[in-house]
Amino acid sequence: MAILVTGGTGYIGSHTVVELLKKDYDVVIVDNYCNSKPEVLNRIYQITHKRPRFYEIDCCNEVKMRELFKKENITDIIHFAGLKSVAESVQKPQLYIDNNIGSSKVLLKLMTEFGVHNIVFSSSATVYGVPDHVPKVGGCTNPYGQTKLDIEYLLKDYAKEHKDANIAILRYFNPIGAHESGLIGEDPQGIPNNLMPYITQVAVGKRPFLNVYGNDYKTHDGTGVRDYIHVVDLAMGHLAALKKLEEKPGLVIYNLGTGKGTSVLDLVKAFEKANDLTIPYEIKERRPGDVDENYADASKAYKEMKWKAKLDIVDACRDSWRWQKNNPRGYDKD
Ligand code: NAD
Ligand code: UFG
Repeated sequence: MAILVTGGTGYIGSHTVVELLKKDYDVVIVDNYCNSKPEVLNRIYQITHKRPRFYEIDCCNEVKMRELFKKENITDIIHFAGLKSVAESVQKPQLYIDNNIGSSKVLLKLMTEFGVHNIVFSSSATVYGVPDHVPKVGGCTNPYGQTKLDIEYLLKDYAKEHKDANIAILRYFNPIGAHESGLIGEDPQGIPNNLMPYITQVAVGKRPFLNVYGNDYKTHDGTGVRDYIHVVDLAMGHLAALKKLEEKPGLVIYNLGTGKGTSVLDLVKAFEKANDLTIPYEIKERRPGDVDENYADASKAYKEMKWKAKLDIVDACRDSWRWQKNNPRGYDKD
């Protein structure tokens, strides 16, 4: 009776593993460290005093994954493993197709082979494409988003063919924040693409100022509005989804967000206030592909799973900064 967490040493995976261990789930992690570090496992131990079983395997490697399934009694899967850089996916679409879709296909094949019925999948608000008045799925603006949509279709087809399958597709909005211990957090390689890690790197002196991409959007202050969700709330959403799957619901889809929109400058101000710091910034050109605003209707997740976000952006700003301040070089040792 073990939960297989693919990508369990990554940003969202590590926070979810901590919450699973706190609730005494038996956790097995698989990760190939293509975007994470072994040190994460030590940090998970420091927080929980537990060491989940770990396999350094590429989830696309069917032979090695089959060995894992033979050894472990997997009952549920949380599938975080995937590449997630929008910009890189534009440069290397085939890599994203092979890794993200390839790993999902291997998992589905092994689920059938080993009689595993339950899977929770990390999807993204990016599947909504450019939001109109009514959010519509499709029209993804980049290959990364397209892989998420394609995997959603794979899962839907799988559910049609396998009546005993229980699948939760979770569409995340913008995860930020870190565990309150400051021991685990987001550790981007190179120049961060996302707003919060860029802000914390400015705060720690690694970058001179924040580039604010555009101040002529149709929003209250002209800067882009997003739905920033604390990563621990997001982690708890996965525990709620596992519980939901125990009810054998078939395939379910939930948005995981707060329902509140926050602009780039709102987030900068919240960070400055929460941490008593100043973040210098410069207004730059719009970033291609960005939309005015995107925030969640997460009411279905509350109605059906009793899950809702409990933490706010002030908590996230404080926790992100604690993580960055205590680990200026991320998981790399000095
Ligand atoms: P992350 O890069 O920190 O974690 C992903 C983990 O998967 C990494 O540890 C990486 O080494 C591992 N991995 C990737 N491909 C693998 C493979 N083939 N085999 C084994 N391990 C592999 O990313 P994250 O922010 O924790 O995101 C987790 C999931 O959530 C991803 O699927 C991502 O697309 C999705 N998601 C993330 C965001 C976000 O803004 N962070 C938003 C929406 C959806
Ligand atoms: N931004 C800046 N400066 C930066 C980085 C970002 O001004 O250095 C702005 C962006 O223009 C945008 C906002 O901050 O208005 C948020 O940008 P992020 O890159 O942090 O997040 P996105 O909403 O663009 O995308 C994120 C993930 C995607 C995922 C999407 C889901 O990166 O993978 O959320 O909503 F699909």
